[in-house]
Amino acid sequence: MKFLTAFVFSVVAGSCCFAQNPDWWKSTTVYQIYPRSFYDTDGDGLGDLNGIIQKLDYIKSLGFETIWISPFFLSPQRDFGYDISDYRSIAPEYGDMGTCLKLIDEVHSRNMKIVFDLVMNHTSNEHAWFKESSSNRENEKADWYVWKDGKGKHGQKPPNNWKATIGGSGWNWHKGRNQFYWASFLPFQPDLNYSNSKVKNTMLDVVRHWLSKGVDGFRLDIFNSIFEDTSFHNNPGSLRIIPSEETPDGFFQKMKFNVNQEGSFEFATELRAVVDSFQNPPRFMVGEVFGDVETTKKFCSYHGKDGLHTIFLFKTLSTPFKAKKWRKMVEEFEHNFAEPFVPTYVFSNHDRRRSITPLGNDVRKAKLLAFFQFTVRGIPFTYYGEELGIEKPTLPLKTGLDPLAQRYKSIPQFMVNWTGQSLNRDECRTPMLWDTTQNAGFTSGEPWLPVAENFKEKNVQTQDRDSTSLLNFYKRIIEFRNENLVLQEGTLTIDEEISNGKVFAFYRELNGGKFLVLMNFSSKTVRLNEIPSEVMFSTHPSTAADFMSPFEGRVLKIAQNN
Ligand code: NOJ
Repeated sequence: MKFLTAFVFSVVAGSCCFAQNPDWWKSTTVYQIYPRSFYDTDGDGLGDLNGIIQKLDYIKSLGFETIWISPFFLSPQRDFGYDISDYRSIAPEYGDMGTCLKLIDEVHSRNMKIVFDLVMNHTSNEHAWFKESSSNRENEKADWYVWKDGKGKHGQKPPNNWKATIGGSGWNWHKGRNQFYWASFLPFQPDLNYSNSKVKNTMLDVVRHWLSKGVDGFRLDIFNSIFEDTSFHNNPGSLRIIPSEETPDGFFQKMKFNVNQEGSFEFATELRAVVDSFQNPPRFMVGEVFGDVETTKKFCSYHGKDGLHTIFLFKTLSTPFKAKKWRKMVEEFEHNFAEPFVPTYVFSNHDRRRSITPLGNDVRKAKLLAFFQFTVRGIPFTYYGEELGIEKPTLPLKTGLDPLAQRYKSIPQFMVNWTGQSLNRDECRTPMLWDTTQNAGFTSGEPWLPVAENFKEKNVQTQDRDSTSLLNFYKRIIEFRNENLVLQEGTLTIDEEISNGKVFAFYRELNGGKFLVLMNFSSKTVRLNEIPSEVMFSTHPSTAADFMSPFEGRVLKIAQNN
């Protein structure tokens, strides 16, 4: 069917070779790789690009189409690549340009897609641009960053009350310029000044550069912080202490003038125009943004113009694993991201605890979660090792390598444990578990972060041999999705009658084909009114027509495709 769609597009495009479906991204599946922790081929304890190349067949065997790789550009690595000092060079610990181009080719030769992680909002303070910009107030790049005079008698008080997204003033004093510079995240990550058209055009050239090398798209880092309001008014107060997935407000203020600005929505449309100028193959962008769904949707469409293809909907990370809560979440996503939009479903990443952790490390629940992710309408994002059920270890803040851990190291550990989140993001980034050998086969050297203690059970090699493993379940469910266009492209409607406090039920429909997806969120067997239809898939080996086992997920065929 995909082949047919491609053929139709080639005819429409009138080209001699196959043009690709511009909407390929709507039905894709994404595997996120944190390169430092994936596979080390040179024994330095850090993963590398060669390692990714060597493991592409593994990712392909899982059934994923797209890989997204966290940044591997030149960087002092103070935020492990999210602090870039040259957007066009590869960090030597990960490889070189030749290896990077080889990686792009190798991905494409497997009929897969590759998405880079682009940090447009800020650079490292060691980037040559910042060095020049901060050298004095007159140089050519003097206004490439957001500089402001301070307040108070000696100008040493921050220009306004704006807080960084991680708390504390986002204004940082620079002795050389006798001024403050703005950093939305950490002080060594100064924000670029997008009100300066030279900055904007330079960054758009970076985008063109990688697209012309064949990259299929970008994941855009803290994209809702790109623009600040140039009035620099103080932000109003708020009662919120901690920002959440639903609102960036926190630390007792509304982020009214520094987050989710019109300029950023408009910039998304400019970026889209650049990305769309590269066709054959068509490309894709997903934005990391925070805020309520209605506001952040403006990143996808603003004043009638297309923006980012989609955005992360991080509500998935905080929604309790309960039938009614999930139903509500899906309702909201479906309402706001109905065609032509597509929601995203992500349950862990390099900043968030592993998805099996809030599920009490229960593999049955992890299977049901994967079942949901690959049967719901949306783009599933799987974080490396999620398919093995890698668990979140407890790594103390004090000795954390993560700069956030260092910043918060005075917070007592019991308080961190209580939140259930990872303030020390090292916990989310421990090495991939390949086999039962030393360091789980990740490295022959000293791993940069500790390898999971239970790696002898949780690794790829061991789970591959066990037909009931989580790994083999991922393969099964992704294969099932890949074989059924209804699951990739069909509409979604919730079944009001079957859905209740324990069961969540929805239909997927396309071209006369109709599937009923049933999920039992409870630890009890539930009774179903017998539905006379063929069971196409189940998380469980045997299924009774009128019962569902605890944590079972099941797909029934209601009608055949035309
Ligand atoms: C969000 C990224 O996901 C995180 O890892 C990074 O530290 C910050 N943005 C700053 O770039």
